Amino acid sequence: MDKYDKVFELAKNRGFIWPSFEIYGGASGFYDYGPLGATLKRKIEDAWRRFYCVGEGFYEIEAPTIGVEAIFEASGHVGGFADPMTTCQKCKESFRADHVIKGEMEIPDGLKKEQMTEIIHQHHIKCPECGGDLGDVYDFNLMFSTWIGPGQKKKGYMRPETAQGMFVDFPRLLRFYREKLPFGVTQIGKSYRNEISPRQGVIRLREFTQAEAEVFVNPQFKNKHPNFAAVKDLVLPLYDEDAQLSGGEPKPMTVGDAVAKGIIANEYLAYYVALTYQFLVGVGIDGKRLRFRQHMKTERAHYATDCWDAEVLLDRFKWVEIVGIADRTSYDLTAHQKRSEVDLSVFIPFDTPMKVKKTIVTPNMGVIGPKFKGKAGKIMAALKAMKPEELDRPEVRLNIDGEEIVIPSDLFDHKTVDVEINGENVIPHVVEPSYGVDRILYSVLEHAYDEEIVEGEGRVVMRFDRTVAPITVAVLPLLSKDPLASRAAEIARGLKAAGYFVEYDESGTIGKRYRRNDEAGTPFCVTVDHQTIEDGTVTVRDRDSMAQIRYPADGLAGLISELLCT
Ligand code: GAP
Repeated sequence: MDKYDKVFELAKNRGFIWPSFEIYGGASGFYDYGPLGATLKRKIEDAWRRFYCVGEGFYEIEAPTIGVEAIFEASGHVGGFADPMTTCQKCKESFRADHVIKGEMEIPDGLKKEQMTEIIHQHHIKCPECGGDLGDVYDFNLMFSTWIGPGQKKKGYMRPETAQGMFVDFPRLLRFYREKLPFGVTQIGKSYRNEISPRQGVIRLREFTQAEAEVFVNPQFKNKHPNFAAVKDLVLPLYDEDAQLSGGEPKPMTVGDAVAKGIIANEYLAYYVALTYQFLVGVGIDGKRLRFRQHMKTERAHYATDCWDAEVLLDRFKWVEIVGIADRTSYDLTAHQKRSEVDLSVFIPFDTPMKVKKTIVTPNMGVIGPKFKGKAGKIMAALKAMKPEELDRPEVRLNIDGEEIVIPSDLFDHKTVDVEINGENVIPHVVEPSYGVDRILYSVLEHAYDEEIVEGEGRVVMRFDRTVAPITVAVLPLLSKDPLASRAAEIARGLKAAGYFVEYDESGTIGKRYRRNDEAGTPFCVTVDHQTIEDGTVTVRDRDSMAQIRYPADGLAGLISELLCT
């Protein structure tokens, strides 16, 4: 059993993660969160909200998980969100072509499908399932499609990222934020990708949760984050393009240096890389098994200027991306503006009005009239209907009574005048930290998992950060009889009223109950014994050190609150 197997076994047994639709045989790429898993997930999401919604002041929105076709045509997902696939001619099983080839030989990333087809045929790469021949490589679009309403008139797609819902709401968001940049918006919710043969357990899912923030900034100020000073001295393990190309290791570097040396493209991007580090370590990712890897130019999305992935080291899957932080430039808003024909620019006023030279073009009818005899009146009317900028061309083409009339620019008068402008329209750039909640959750489980021998006996303990542990405190009466049981139940009620996740457990020996709670990652166990009835004190056991102290039951809520903050 490797660590993945051990963690997954515990996750299944203790109610963290279960394969979905188990009684019908299951389906790969789908998992349920059981009672402890769902609670852990909510706590991770709440921690994320504390960072982004409370800390950064980015409001959260909730858009539908199904989107109309136009959204994904504009975003490029209909045309380009595909993985290379090959299908076995014998057993009809399909595989990601690059994964199958990589199972047999080393190849660089980013090969074209024709090149992969050639490799498969030339090197006789066979089906990993049945050894049959593999077919030519083709593009497989990862979006789940559906029809909106009855019939097949209106096509829709399950969203492959939450981001698009925030881009298409941009005009309303801009008004909400009183027409001023920068502002941010967040969304936590399900995304869907019809991954080809997901064999990486809970790492590659077909339905998963993303927590994304879209930060809309004036491109002129991308290198001036208002809160940069708060993170600039933070040292991060940065695995930049150079280090990757030279086969080196991640470099520990301050965020400030990374921007000053041009390693991270701008302050905004660097700020969210830093925030991501603080968030991940805060929810229990081991900082020593975390690095930030810069996308190589060859793997970067065509619109992104710079992109960094937070990667965690997992026992079986090695370095896995759990968060992507990208500078998406104005790509998305420009694409939606073009497709929707709705203006998605923002008027940015200048500090002081600027004088600019403007050329005013007017038709010189004294010259045009005699040149186009009999048509002068219609030409004049057509020119009058045109916008001034449409006249400022090397030639103007008109259709008069079915005949094309070409008027060269020298038949127009050009006058240059000074005009005062007090601002300009700009399409904002987007910096996007995009978190995969499920991968973070699994990484938190694996990094929390620990085994040790205590007094000759094995103990498995989930060393969760106390703030995200699904159960904060277990209340355990030494005996399941009164007066201990009723006093314990009363203490549990008091702790629930104080807002804690409490487990009341009276079944089995006290040792077994401690072990159960160690496996659930419960940071504190409160034991109610005979002394409690006499002097009102209980024992409080710390999960990690197993040390116990006696403490007045009445002060427990305050003690736990203090311990959660340390
Ligand atoms: N809006 C940008 C975006 O969606 P991405 O890198 O494709 O970027 C962001 O996804 C995060 O979502 C990833 O870092 C990963 O944690 C998570 N993610 C993506 N595909 C996933 C999948 N099939 N299963 C589980 N998580 C996934």
